[in-house]
Amino acid sequence: MTADELKKQAAEAALRYVEPRLERDTVLGVGTGSTVNHFIAALGDLRSRIDAAVSSSDESSRRLEELGISVIDLNAAGSVDFYVDGADEANRHLQLIKGGGGALTREKIIAAAAKEFICIADESKLVPVLGKFPLPVEVIPMARSHVARKISAMGGIPVYRDEFVTDNGNHILDIHKLDLRDPRTMEAQLDHITGVVCNGLFVRRAADRLLLAGAQGIRTLLPDA
Ligand code: 5RP
Repeated sequence: MTADELKKQAAEAALRYVEPRLERDTVLGVGTGSTVNHFIAALGDLRSRIDAAVSSSDESSRRLEELGISVIDLNAAGSVDFYVDGADEANRHLQLIKGGGGALTREKIIAAAAKEFICIADESKLVPVLGKFPLPVEVIPMARSHVARKISAMGGIPVYRDEFVTDNGNHILDIHKLDLRDPRTMEAQLDHITGVVCNGLFVRRAADRLLLAGAQGIRTLLPDA
């Protein structure tokens, strides 16, 4: 089975989880990326049962609206009942690296606001230790070099994501070879660098449920007790 077929299976598993829990006023959070695009496509059948969605990117908003699903501003949503999104890496504690698609800041905001964060991925995303995937960091454009120097001093190798501007008008540094054995501390340290908008470590707000698609089917991982 190809990685894309597995992504589709993970997305369908998320739909099976969410569908029986939908209520009249459910607000659904929808992330960004190729795995979530399968989820959005499958959501079309449920459009009449979804009150509204909040979305983590202009691209996902466009896809949702094309299906006739109303996309509202997070400020207008009383709360977000479920947030469904992919990941670039996940560990067994459901801590994640996200932001490969550059939508990390809005993703982190919706995850923070969500009652339940359901992460969907193919099984290649599960790793023993986070950090093989370069960690995306969104920066204010004028702070890019300053932030890059600070991160180099922390042992990472920052690479400017050329010709990429986030939906918030900012730039991305992809950090290679950063030691993420203590991801909680690193998430906080990166947040403290002036000029950093957001980093792609989801540890303070990890996923609540990880639906992993593999050759043997869907595996559900829950956080350690
Ligand atoms: C976008 C993200 C995505 O969730 C992540 O990059 C995974 O993408 P895909 O589903 O295409 O593998 O964080 O900013």
